[in-house]
Amino acid sequence: MTRIVVVGSINLDLVTLAPRFPAPGETLLGSRFITVSGGKGANQAVAAARLGAQVALLGAVGDDVFGERLLHGLAHEGIDLQHVLTLPDCSSGTASITVAGGENQIIVVPAANAQVLPAQVEQARALIEHADVVLVQMEIPLETVDATLRLGQRLSVPVILNPAPAQTLPVEWLRRARYITPNQHELAILLGADPAEDFRTLLQRAPCPVVLTRGAEGAWYREGFRSAHQPGFTVDVVDSTGAGDTFNAAFAVFLHDGLPSAVRKACAAAALSVGSLGAQAGMPTRSALQAMLDLHAPPG
Ligand code: RIB
Repeated sequence: MTRIVVVGSINLDLVTLAPRFPAPGETLLGSRFITVSGGKGANQAVAAARLGAQVALLGAVGDDVFGERLLHGLAHEGIDLQHVLTLPDCSSGTASITVAGGENQIIVVPAANAQVLPAQVEQARALIEHADVVLVQMEIPLETVDATLRLGQRLSVPVILNPAPAQTLPVEWLRRARYITPNQHELAILLGADPAEDFRTLLQRAPCPVVLTRGAEGAWYREGFRSAHQPGFTVDVVDSTGAGDTFNAAFAVFLHDGLPSAVRKACAAAALSVGSLGAQAGMPTRSALQAMLDLHAPPG
């Protein structure tokens, strides 16, 4: 069983389904509203657990009803929550999400996630030391992202950095990651480049191995001089929220299979995840993923 530690955010997602995105100042009538578990860290933990990994999450919630509900959901997925803090006098993170035509717009209020500090990573040293892979994203303070990358490097545990939401980082931080997994926009921001620059050029400019996600078009990856494309799996999209998180989780879970296989499985898992409303609802089990892979097995 792959042992994965996820360092990241935990949010309650407030999701509105709308016919389209409103213009500034405009009021629209939506068709549905749900509250579901989310947050990039929690989503990646849940997706990895459903794919059969042994998962521990490092993060924080507030001492409110959202926090209780979020912890309950994570425990139900079998995730080790020993390193998730419940912070007094603090609210849990929230994400206000509008979904229209399968696309989304998101506003995150970090709240408790902003209190996930480097000391918490140090306290989880023993856990991280025994992990096969660590996953970290950027909805927590960047100093904590840095602490995670440094500790992973010190302990020789591979850290996958999912640089979302987009922010610029010092180049030396990126070199500490085993892989970075941005989309095109995130990679451009990360490198301080023009977001309109061709993604193939951006891929070459990355200072470390990179897996670039391209939604329905699949993923491009580069390690050293070797680069390749994994086409996406064609599916009907209900809600793409959490697709990137599912991709990262599957990539981490199957990394031991080698880069091409891990990227293929990650693309398939992400495709399965977009079939339901809510970040975690469509995340596949290991057997659902296998069925998808068998269905699309290359001939011969
Ligand atoms: O990646 C999707 C996630 O981003 C949502 O669940 C939301 O909470 C935001 O953090």
